[in-house]
Amino acid sequence: MRTPLIVGNWKMHGTLGEARALAGAVRDGLKRPRGVEVVLCPSFTALAAVAEVLGTGPIQLGAQTCHHEAAGAHTGEVSPAMLVDVGCRWVLLGHSERRKEIGESDGLIYQKLRAALAHKLRPVLCVGETAEERRQGLTFPTVEGQLRAGLAGLAVDAIGGIVLAYEPVWAIGTGVNATPGQAGEVHGYLRGLLSELASKEIAQKTRILYGGSVKADNAGDLVAEPEIDGALVGGASLNAPGFIAIVKQAARVGAASKE
Ligand code: 13P
Repeated sequence: MRTPLIVGNWKMHGTLGEARALAGAVRDGLKRPRGVEVVLCPSFTALAAVAEVLGTGPIQLGAQTCHHEAAGAHTGEVSPAMLVDVGCRWVLLGHSERRKEIGESDGLIYQKLRAALAHKLRPVLCVGETAEERRQGLTFPTVEGQLRAGLAGLAVDAIGGIVLAYEPVWAIGTGVNATPGQAGEVHGYLRGLLSELASKEIAQKTRILYGGSVKADNAGDLVAEPEIDGALVGGASLNAPGFIAIVKQAARVGAASKE
């Protein structure tokens, strides 16, 4: 049984006041989430404030990226050690917006992944194809290339510490989500690759999240698909009631699969 995981990626949104209010509303709406894990990923500037709001409660803190070195002359960057220090337990890596806008390569993402794991941060490695790649029938080779490059050379045990997120670029922020069937097909393919790259046992244990226009009204169907182990939520995570509704649907699916 893989416990569903719901991650809110706030992207570049939120003043300190807004971040505190949003985190507080999510915390108060999810006092004792059962059968589901919840992570909030605010911007760097709001991490300390959100850490304070979440306190020692069940909702965990994550960052949206990190540098691959522990410290040094890297203007504008934030290291994994700094993230741990501020209370993060998770970090998103390889998000398509960073691949595209910042030019993050598979090789760099691999270095970040290694650094995050070395600092005991749990990475969520994001992969996904563009609309054009899907049109050309390149969905599987694209995500396979990203996964292989991201995990290349990692010890089998290290791969067991990673969460994957399938985020088709065409579904991000567009209102057009992948269907449970489309996502399930890619998740199954990724799980098969994990079997090969790590082991069957690790592949079965690894959570593969879906991301791309997840909302309260489609989350239940998506998470009910057996290959989908939760969601990476962008826009809908900025609204507390909507995000709480997504978490509750995932919890329902998680609880039902335990029966
Ligand atoms: P949306 O939920 O806004 O489509 O964003 C998805 C995403 O990129 C999460 O990382």
